[in-house]
Amino acid sequence: MPPYLAGREEEIEIFRKLIRQRTIFENLLLTGLRGVGKTVLLESLKPIALQEHWLWVGSNLSESASVSEETIAQKILADVSLASASLTFRQSRKSEIGFGGAATSEIQPFDYRALKHIYDQTPGLVADKIKATLIQIWEAVSHQTPDRKGIIFAYDEAQTMHDHPQEKQYPLSMFLDVFQSIQKSGIPFMLAFTGLPTLFPKLIEARTYTERMFRVVSLSVLSDDECKEAITRPVANVDKGSLYFTEDSVETIISHSGGYPYFIQFICREVYDIWMNALGAGTDIEQMPSVPMEGIIQKLDADFFAGRWARLTDRQRELLTVVAHIDSNDGEFSVQEVVGKSKDILSNPFSASHVNQMLAALSKNGLIYKNRHGKYSFAVPLMGQFILRQG
Ligand SMILES: Nc1ncnc2c1ncn2[C@@H]1O[C@H](COP(=O)(O)OP(=O)(O)OP(=O)(O)O)[C@@H](O)[C@H]1O
Ligand SMILES: [Mg+2]
Repeated sequence: MPPYLAGREEEIEIFRKLIRQRTIFENLLLTGLRGVGKTVLLESLKPIALQEHWLWVGSNLSESASVSEETIAQKILADVSLASASLTFRQSRKSEIGFGGAATSEIQPFDYRALKHIYDQTPGLVADKIKATLIQIWEAVSHQTPDRKGIIFAYDEAQTMHDHPQEKQYPLSMFLDVFQSIQKSGIPFMLAFTGLPTLFPKLIEARTYTERMFRVVSLSVLSDDECKEAITRPVANVDKGSLYFTEDSVETIISHSGGYPYFIQFICREVYDIWMNALGAGTDIEQMPSVPMEGIIQKLDADFFAGRWARLTDRQRELLTVVAHIDSNDGEFSVQEVVGKSKDILSNPFSASHVNQMLAALSKNGLIYKNRHGKYSFAVPLMGQFILRQG
């Protein structure tokens, strides 16, 4: 979590409205580029939900969670069991001694084992089993803790979920079907997904009804004022004689960060470390450059961009270099623009079909994404500038 969460009041208000729904018609979907603040915003919704008497279940999704319908069901069970384990249920047992097999009953925790038992005992498809289990959980929650309003299922990195038509496995579609059906039956389970901008198109592709099922909240960069808050608030209580940001420093950080929270935090942490070291060594900080950007950018390149860049093939790097040279650098670009620019700057330019193919592969890597109008953008902010720095 950042020392101070700047902005995002509107997004938080949307969430507050969503959890006031009696019947859940709308679920939350937070999207945005890498480092824009999806995870920390999701985390900061949790205490709000708890305060409003919702249970919170959640975790990170990954490719391995949606290998099959069974794996995603197991994941949901495991996650929800953490919240349900404080509840109990009465399990009847046939007495083993004595005549007539008189039944006794025992109080059991509603833990993973119990959930798995219900799941395994339910006949039918994976979707039927997980649905039946979730319904029983809600029965227990609503009886034993009647002031609970519902359960939030919060999943980060939801863009990693896939259907696998070749293997006839549809974990993503099943997940959506199960929740839609549960919500239709009036059970207050709400989804809160976060993911890259590829997420919403992907959900719609899996199930067209998701267009109406999600309230999409796109996180963008922080405004200048919000950036300023993010930079100065955390050091507001520090002795001004030892550490402070001048107006100039703040502006430098804002402009280099592009307003992306990740970059703001990165730069501020570096500046802070440099200052602390200088203070420790007795250096006169008045004589130091307040924000030594050159060194910080080198470190940022090494820490944030270089790893992603290293995983690419030479030809992919060439393609992205072409993209970085298109005027709309860090904005949108089309296949045609890439083809055109590659003719200008490469000795072996790309054909349209080649560009299409490669962009599809890069989208899978999560480095770029295609928007609903068929144009592409970098999914990693400031990537274009990094590429140009590689010169
Ligand atoms: N509103 C904010 N104010 C201050 N700092 C923030 C804010 N939002 C995010 N940050 C900081 O920015 C960094 C990136 O945030 P976060 O990890 O939530 O991004 P993300 O969108 O989840 O990225 P990714 O797509 O890579 O998972 C973190 O260091 C976080 O503390
Ligand atoms: Mg994240």
